[in-house]
Amino acid sequence: MDRVIIFDTTLRDGEQAAGTGLTPAEKVEIAKQLERLGVDVIEAGFPISSPGDFEAVQAISREIKDCTVCALSHATPEAVDRAWEAIKEAKQPRIHVFLSASDIHLMYQLRKTRDEILEMARDMVARAKRYTEDVEFSPMDATRTEPVFLYRILEAVIDAGATTVNIPDTVGYAIPAEFGDLIASILEKVPNIDKAVLSVHCHDDLGLAVANSIEAVRRGARQVECTVNGIGERAGNASLEEIVMALKTRSDFLKLTTNIDTTQIYRTSRLVSELTGFVVQPNKAIVGANAFRHQSGIHQDGVIKQSITYEIIDPRSVGVPASTLVLGKVSGRHAFRERLAELGYTLEGEAFERAFKAFKELADKKKEVTDKDIESLIAEEKRTASEVYHLDHVQVSCGDHSVPTATVRLVAPDGKVLADAALGTGPVDAVYKAINRIIKVPNRLTEFTVKSVTEGIDAIGEVLIRIESDGVSYTGRGASTDIIVASAKAYMNALNRLLLAKKEHKK
Ligand code: KIV
Ligand code: ZN
Repeated sequence: MDRVIIFDTTLRDGEQAAGTGLTPAEKVEIAKQLERLGVDVIEAGFPISSPGDFEAVQAISREIKDCTVCALSHATPEAVDRAWEAIKEAKQPRIHVFLSASDIHLMYQLRKTRDEILEMARDMVARAKRYTEDVEFSPMDATRTEPVFLYRILEAVIDAGATTVNIPDTVGYAIPAEFGDLIASILEKVPNIDKAVLSVHCHDDLGLAVANSIEAVRRGARQVECTVNGIGERAGNASLEEIVMALKTRSDFLKLTTNIDTTQIYRTSRLVSELTGFVVQPNKAIVGANAFRHQSGIHQDGVIKQSITYEIIDPRSVGVPASTLVLGKVSGRHAFRERLAELGYTLEGEAFERAFKAFKELADKKKEVTDKDIESLIAEEKRTASEVYHLDHVQVSCGDHSVPTATVRLVAPDGKVLADAALGTGPVDAVYKAINRIIKVPNRLTEFTVKSVTEGIDAIGEVLIRIESDGVSYTGRGASTDIIVASAKAYMNALNRLLLAKKEHKK
């Protein structure tokens, strides 16, 4: 069977989605998980776009050993040089040069002729080639580019040394049959196409990104560019998990494989959602909360008798936790550690003790501690590990005839205990105002969502918030069986990320 190269652009195109605000350390954490997942290429960022992006790409290049690390670059000498500077320590470095090719972009945005574009593309690929053997070129807005010009530009960049040529459906305009025909025509009309890998990069403006990508590989493309949970510019990119599982589940028809360890899919999706703050919609294929839930009586009956009746994918094959009762009040350290290992987590020393303490407290409040609860505890533990200020205590008084009042106590980085109180329009507002009286960083709350991790009145509540400061957005999450405590933790998490980012920026 032929293999399709999985090029993950979660950290570049995915990160371009409004309001992700990932720190360099978080990007490294996602990159390491992508390496575990088995993607072939990680597009780590766009080094010339900001010092933070440069730093993240450089850190990922140093850390990742088993994947190609790619940096995006405009078709300018400065951008190509900067891209190389960021990835030069990678074991397998790739420079990805892009340049608009459609007349719409040439006329209204770049104000350049086709010949000028051709020359820039050729020159910048040649420049990148002086740095690394592995060079990719993307003619932006390819699906609205006049095909004969597209063939010319592809031929020219392959001659200049491009080893991958990527066909971006930049505005999500293509229809599967039409896109497939374009791919087949490129394979037929570009004389030197056998010297490069043909890749596709589809956006989801018409909800067709995955369908277009699958049609493209069916017609001969051998690299797909995609993101975890389908995050990306506007409506997003083709979703990695949907492409990989379509290729795997329908290998009888498509006869194609990937290198992906599918059991890592669920964990990767959770991590990306957790760190970007983009909640996965419940009905999302493969990784949504309802993807393997059967509601109708007929379906439940069928699945109980034989899962194949209504399930085309075994949830365990994508790493979805069983979500059955696993641990309770009487479970000890050993059982907890074993369950963590089964879920793919290893915590040592203080981190383990903190998580175990949180588990015991939860088990006291909740009869059944499920895998999803444990995942939530671990996420909370990770957030605690990277704190600047720690929330030590929160107390509120509220009701329909009283003024909401909150008292909070925080521990500062130097160990000092700081306490304050405030009134608010509601209990969460009062808590946030009390925290603001201690950590005096101006910001604006732009989003606030609460959801429960599992069913039942005793469920853990997860709060996701976004705050904005100096035009930059920071997400925060918090989890607790008490939603006011979860809200306070989410705010502290967002503030801590803001403080860390400002500190990094000053360096
Ligand atoms: O959508 C697009 O055209 C891109 C290119 C930079 C490949 O993201
Ligand atoms: Zn894109």
